[in-house]
Amino acid sequence: MKRLVLAIETSCDETATAVVSVDMEILSNVVLSQIPIHSKYGGVVPEIASRNHIKVIDQVVQKALDDAKVLMSDISAVAATTHPGLPGAVLIGRIFGEALALRNNVPFISINHIHGHIASVPLSMGESELEKHIALVISGGHTSLYKVAKSGKVVLLEQTLDDAIGEAFDKVARVLGLSYPGGPEIEKQANKWIGNDELIKFVAKPNYQIQGFSYSGLKTAVLNYVNKIKMKGEEINLPHLAASFQYEAISQLVFKVNRILKSTKVKTLCVSGGVSANEYLRKTLTEECSKLGVKVSFPHKSLCGDNAAMIAAASILELK
Ligand code: KG4
Ligand code: ZN
Repeated sequence: MKRLVLAIETSCDETATAVVSVDMEILSNVVLSQIPIHSKYGGVVPEIASRNHIKVIDQVVQKALDDAKVLMSDISAVAATTHPGLPGAVLIGRIFGEALALRNNVPFISINHIHGHIASVPLSMGESELEKHIALVISGGHTSLYKVAKSGKVVLLEQTLDDAIGEAFDKVARVLGLSYPGGPEIEKQANKWIGNDELIKFVAKPNYQIQGFSYSGLKTAVLNYVNKIKMKGEEINLPHLAASFQYEAISQLVFKVNRILKSTKVKTLCVSGGVSANEYLRKTLTEECSKLGVKVSFPHKSLCGDNAAMIAAASILELK
């Protein structure tokens, strides 16, 4: 039998487990989302997230083994996200994983959540070797660019100075009365926009020149715009506004990715994290990379958001 890793991910509001073979075959990938529990608060409530992880962690681990049709005795190592994340939430997966590894006399591998997102790209392609690349990680908590070496060494190049891009999507969606998580809702609205009007200009281009990403200015500009329209007693054109916000948020990413690719001369870009599911982003980055002669890869849609298969993949790359 192939060597198998059982992985656990509880850094935010998903209780996720997976069984992945060392040659990157996903045998099971269970994601129990707490979105229905947190959506009434418009965002994740950390204490509620931890309590719900405790309630279900043993069943979710068992489901990963059952779906993979294996027993705990078939597992060669246990991996879990240990940082960064909501402290109380990440602790549940970590302690459960450590105890499971100890009980079954197998190694425990501690994984950085970001390394998990980075590993979701080779995992999607079934590759258990890394190539030198620039990694763009875009999620609810991160907007970062890294240089990743063939050895797996990860060096941070640029990160957000304030809100993460996914956080900006979520906050703008909340103000517009859209449900949580806001990213997919904004994308749906933006796709409905077929008008010929110019997009609303929220942020001046010079903002792009700063080192690092910044989304709080854009978020505030959208909120001010919404308040102004409401005060005038006018209706908000949701698709127009969503398309304008999405365009601006993604333009900043594309501008900074372009700058990094040109300055580092690295010819491979891997994009990951929840926001990498966005189709407009995929299309725009693909066009930009083709102009630069850069190969760009995205994770499988099912591996963009938080999941444990990517944590297993990161542990496999780390072991190698
Ligand atoms: O990676 P992820 O599941 O969790 C974190 O590590 O944060 O990312 C979640 C984020 C949320 O902010 C969500 O709104 C955003 O990813 N997101 C999207 C899309 N799908 C998820 N943002 C824009 N467009 C999407 N299609
Ligand atoms: Zn994440």
